[in-house]
Amino acid sequence: MLVTQHAVLRRFWYPVIPIADLTNSPQPFTLLGEPLVLWLTNQGEPAALRDRCCHRSAKLSMGIVQNGCVRCPYHGWSYNADGSCMNVPQLDPDVAIPKTYRVDAFLCAERYGYVWVCLSEDPLLPLPEIPEAEVPGNRLIPQFYEPWQCSGLRVMENSFDNAHFSIVHAESFGVTEQPKPARSEIVPLDLGLKVYATVPVVNPPTQQKNLNIPDRLTVREVESTWYVPFSRTLKITYPNGLMHLIFTAATPMSDRTSQIVQFCIRNDSEADASAESIITFDRQVVSEDKLVLESTDYDTPVDVSCEQHMPSDQPGIIMRRQLAALLKTHEVHEVQKAEPVLVKI
Ligand code: FES
Ligand SMILES: [Fe+2]
Repeated sequence: MLVTQHAVLRRFWYPVIPIADLTNSPQPFTLLGEPLVLWLTNQGEPAALRDRCCHRSAKLSMGIVQNGCVRCPYHGWSYNADGSCMNVPQLDPDVAIPKTYRVDAFLCAERYGYVWVCLSEDPLLPLPEIPEAEVPGNRLIPQFYEPWQCSGLRVMENSFDNAHFSIVHAESFGVTEQPKPARSEIVPLDLGLKVYATVPVVNPPTQQKNLNIPDRLTVREVESTWYVPFSRTLKITYPNGLMHLIFTAATPMSDRTSQIVQFCIRNDSEADASAESIITFDRQVVSEDKLVLESTDYDTPVDVSCEQHMPSDQPGIIMRRQLAALLKTHEVHEVQKAEPVLVKI
């Protein structure tokens, strides 16, 4: 599946940038091959436009924010969050700005400290709801924001694959003497998936401190949720009641590149475990996954007959089937819409 080739993938929300990165200037981001400029309006709300001035096509992300608008770096035309040109410095102020002076605007919102964008006016799903983010006393720790050279589908199925721990994560939490994966309860949703499992894990010394569990071995109660197409939460609860919930998105930049956006939510405090130490351990785990995922084909097939499977691959198979059905439904829909035109010709 080449993500830029399927218009239906434009109908989902994706986290694209930490909102704090917009504090001083507009920033570029490429979502599904679409170049965007992102900035904060005077109300502090994020805005997203196509990163191309309608005058001479300069990149608006190279400009500045002025009066809540993004100002083009070339001749200084300014655009508001709707994409309308609000100021042309070369025109007298009493001259009306033509309505055709505009660029495309996209749905844009802030959630969990990140700016989210949907490239369609008609999203198929709302932004993921994470109730644990709203619980007073829980803390949210931003973890990783970086491009990986692999497909979002590979990242998602890896997140639900409990058969790779003893191999890929042998140096971090994998139980090398037990390669057989733990049993899971799998609950497919209309669009999405939930998996419940009890997973034995190794606790290296740094993690024993992070978790306040002074044992080499422990178990994780896991509740994983897949949000179509490329986001997930992994809610881990340890025997001492500690919750470590990880949100990961593999935001599709292009066919080959996914922007990894990861934060975690915990019900402990900085005095219990420092954010730095938590990030250090999760960095090790994530780097182990990255190394192997970047070696996989980025044109990841949704046709399950194209690769071989084992019983523990069931979540990835469900993902592929749901995505295949989604693509088929929307491609069929487009063909049906095109038919009357073909008949007329
Ligand atoms: S190219 Fe943007 S104002 Fe001229
Ligand atoms: Fe992994």
